[in-house]
Amino acid sequence: MKNAKLILIMVVAAFVLLLSACGTSKTSKTNGEESEKKTLRVVTDAAYAPFEYQDKGKVVGFDIDFVKAVVKEAGYNVKVEHIGWDPIFVEIEGKTADIAVSAITINDKRKQSYDFSVPYYLSKNEILVPKGSPIKGAQDLKGKVVAVQNGTTGQDAVEKILGENSNKIKKFENNNLAILELKNGGADAVVADNGVVDTYVKNNPKDNFTIIEDDAAFEKEFYGLLLSKGSKLKPELDKAINKIFDNGTYAKLYKKWFNKEPDIKFLKDQQ
Ligand code: ARG
Repeated sequence: MKNAKLILIMVVAAFVLLLSACGTSKTSKTNGEESEKKTLRVVTDAAYAPFEYQDKGKVVGFDIDFVKAVVKEAGYNVKVEHIGWDPIFVEIEGKTADIAVSAITINDKRKQSYDFSVPYYLSKNEILVPKGSPIKGAQDLKGKVVAVQNGTTGQDAVEKILGENSNKIKKFENNNLAILELKNGGADAVVADNGVVDTYVKNNPKDNFTIIEDDAAFEKEFYGLLLSKGSKLKPELDKAINKIFDNGTYAKLYKKWFNKEPDIKFLKDQQ
């Protein structure tokens, strides 16, 4: 009887030891600290190559590499999810997502309802037209049908020229649909960010599109990470962005996606 009790105690002790050993090996594998890292939910509209798009079911792009580097630098894990353009604003405002990355231009209208990180990319709108189009500048868009992604600065820029309620502005849920409309002859031009327009023309030579720039009509824009108003993450993310500006990570990613050197000093001057 005594023996049986002893064996039972030993079995229980061995079991407890085994369990705790499992526990330790688990934490040490993920390196203790890492296992306690919080995961930030990052949302995007992955239909804006080369910034964010889907490749074999995976969300990739410059913005995705960038946000992953920033969040890692800030000491968090990251989960990126493609949810579409309009939902981004709903989720950030409702705080069901922590960060949105989506080539999002920092502007006063948005700043009323959201916070932004420091700027991380310089952009401007451009016009995409079929080769041989009579459209040579922004003013030539008057009287033409222009396709844009709904709720973008491209839409704002076209409204400035055609008027806010112009029925000549065709608005689409994502930019790929706007370009498709141009391809199908349902529009005379698309207005969107230069990075996207340049990439499209380079990757689709058979479409016979060309790019019209108009620096007098289209202002400089800067992308930022979109955060909820008063987000506690802002100081940490800003610090992390500056860190990757300074330690070469940003330049490496920029070169990977755009094949040229970024002007980091110019970006930092905007802070
Ligand atoms: N930069 C423009 C804006 O903020 C267009 C961004 C569109 N981005 C996207 N992923 N669809 O309005």
